[in-house]
Amino acid sequence: MKPGDSLMKHYLQFKDFRAEEYAYLFERAATIKKRFKNYEKYTPLVDRTLAMIFEKASTRTRVSFEAGMYQLGGSVVNLTTGDSQLGRAEPIEDSAKVISRMVDIVMIRTFEQTKIEAFAANSRVPVINGLTNEYHPCQILADIFTFIEHRGSIQGKVVAWVGDGNNMANTWLQAADVLGFTLHVSTPGGYEIDPQMAGVKNAACVETFNHPMDACAGAHLVTTDVWTSMGYEAENEARMKAFVDWCVDADMMAAAQPDALFMHCLPAHRGEEVEAEVIDGPQSVVWDEAENRLHAQKALMEYLVLGRIG
Ligand code: CP
Ligand code: NVA
Repeated sequence: MKPGDSLMKHYLQFKDFRAEEYAYLFERAATIKKRFKNYEKYTPLVDRTLAMIFEKASTRTRVSFEAGMYQLGGSVVNLTTGDSQLGRAEPIEDSAKVISRMVDIVMIRTFEQTKIEAFAANSRVPVINGLTNEYHPCQILADIFTFIEHRGSIQGKVVAWVGDGNNMANTWLQAADVLGFTLHVSTPGGYEIDPQMAGVKNAACVETFNHPMDACAGAHLVTTDVWTSMGYEAENEARMKAFVDWCVDADMMAAAQPDALFMHCLPAHRGEEVEAEVIDGPQSVVWDEAENRLHAQKALMEYLVLGRIG
């Protein structure tokens, strides 16, 4: 795609794409993964550059985007707040105008969603959300790809969210709306999700439960995340008390479907949001989930830069 192309898309929230685009992306991710596993060279993004901007820490997002872009034949520029003018108050709009004249695609991990929206509004090239306070769409893209690999279509299934009403929970909510499954949510009081903020159209895609065990009943997938997300560290002490009953354990997994999967975006804190016997147990697919960040994001970058293949 060329600068200014009216077909240019950004990926800032899960609901930026339609169900039919996800069906395409999951197929592409499977193809790209298969070729990679067979050591088949596939370099459609040769001579293209990805700029990554990290205003928060990362392991998976950094490695999967960087390795993924190199594997697709392109190159990568990595910027952080501390080593760029972003940390010295250069306006995000000016940064977007400059960076997007020099590269072909941008991935940003930052704080407020409004910041990534401001960048995208001033960018000549596609912008990907690599996590904000509000959303983490690349993670859910990989999570649902992982679910499909293990269990087939997620449509009509039940996903249980246990824990904080955070960026991951909001993104699961949007995914339930777009892809037609039901999200069971249980959060402590004061940490609820907000379907209206997430722009959910079909209110029936979410059911809330006071007790995490009730949210897990009959679920095909149980998932959770840290009690304290990046940027909320000052609340850690209060959160440790509020979330103590929101630890996914063997009893919760037993309440779910017998073949229910367990996922966690990682990094995890064993003994806090999940017991070791669950995350390290037979129903856990967290390592496939982490690996699939690579394959799903390669499909995403290919789609945003080149459009549909074939
Ligand atoms: N799950 C995830 O986004 O991990 P990182 O914070 O390590 O990138
Ligand atoms: N909710 C977590 C996810 C980390 C990948 C955070 O925002 O810190």
